[in-house]
Amino acid sequence: MDKVTISTGRPYQVTIGSGLLSRLGEILPPRQSCRVAIVADDIVDSLYGDQAAAAFRQQGHSVCRFAFPHGEANKNMQQLTALLRFLAASHLSRSDLIVAVGGGVTGDLAGLAAAVYLRGIDYLQMPTTLLAAIDSSVGGKTAVDLPEGKNQVGAFWQPLAVVCDTDTFATLPETVFIDGIAEAVKYGVLADPTMLDLLASADFGSRLSWIVRRSVEIKGRFVEEDERDTGSRQLLNLGHTVGHAIEQCSGYAVPHGHAVAIGMAVIARAAAAAGICRDDVPQQIIAALVGNQLPVDCDYSLDSLIEVIQTDKKRRGDLISLVVPEQIGLCRLYNMPITELASFLAPGYKRR
Ligand code: NAD
Ligand code: GLY
Repeated sequence: MDKVTISTGRPYQVTIGSGLLSRLGEILPPRQSCRVAIVADDIVDSLYGDQAAAAFRQQGHSVCRFAFPHGEANKNMQQLTALLRFLAASHLSRSDLIVAVGGGVTGDLAGLAAAVYLRGIDYLQMPTTLLAAIDSSVGGKTAVDLPEGKNQVGAFWQPLAVVCDTDTFATLPETVFIDGIAEAVKYGVLADPTMLDLLASADFGSRLSWIVRRSVEIKGRFVEEDERDTGSRQLLNLGHTVGHAIEQCSGYAVPHGHAVAIGMAVIARAAAAAGICRDDVPQQIIAALVGNQLPVDCDYSLDSLIEVIQTDKKRRGDLISLVVPEQIGLCRLYNMPITELASFLAPGYKRR
């Protein structure tokens, strides 16, 4: 098993390996018997809920379970309220524990509930999608969406630990698995050209655990440098400005990783057209994405994307901050007047 320490204000460990769901006792810091609320969406609850509950019972904890309908459309205030009321009805106290078992939707929802319930209680991330393993479970960003925009209600709240049982990836539908590949491509572009090459190669299945560990290390480094996302951590938003707009335009039918893939392709092509990077930069990014069946062209007009971007969290007054690749392994933040965004993106935008 691999371990990566994330040295935030309260440091924690990410443990990655096979069979970890049933070996929690070896991994987690010793804890007095407590009440554990396991939060999972309906699909993950039926696949892994019993196993997770048994593992915590074996450690002497009492378990209650909250299952909610899967999908981004349920990462909302209604589910947050339902979860908070469930925690209260289940008498969780400040010394108890929330456990998020699932993808990024579950982690974001359960993490936000942990941040605000009783002004904050401990929670554990147990990611079961590749995307959650390499991205959303690490770094303490928690959120739900509003009809007006994605992740618009949230908090920074670091987990107590992250436990990633890589065996759970075996049940992932292909489209969900490749959502995670999009985020791994992002880390390659940000910080590791070798990993980008590996992701572009035909068969990296045998290196998946390494990809998870390396991605967590890269994300951890950005989070440690800038836990509250006021500076360098914003580089992790590569592809996300356009990506979030695509998700919202689609009513969240386009999954996060697919939307980020298109967003990265658009920004890289735009950067090359503006002379910020060479043409081989978008070419390499697009080859890695397309080679993994990820999309690089968009179903929505540039005008409709720009309209949504006006409400983006990354907007500060009349400026929007964009992450732009200069080389593979080196990206930079550009603060651009929002009025110039359409003309900057236009050469990179391609309609499907
Ligand atoms: P998700 O949580 O919706 O999971 C995708 C689907 O896979 C769901 O239907 C789920 O039921 C199913 N699933 C999960 N694990 C499974 C398994 N092992 N086997 C079979 N099916 C399984 O989506 P996601 O792609 O994991 O996460 C996307 C979310 O993460 C978005 O809301 C995004 O905004 C958020 N996100 C957050 C951060 C952060 O830093 N907090 C970072 C990146 C993404
Ligand atoms: N997913 C971006 C971040 O955690 O900062």
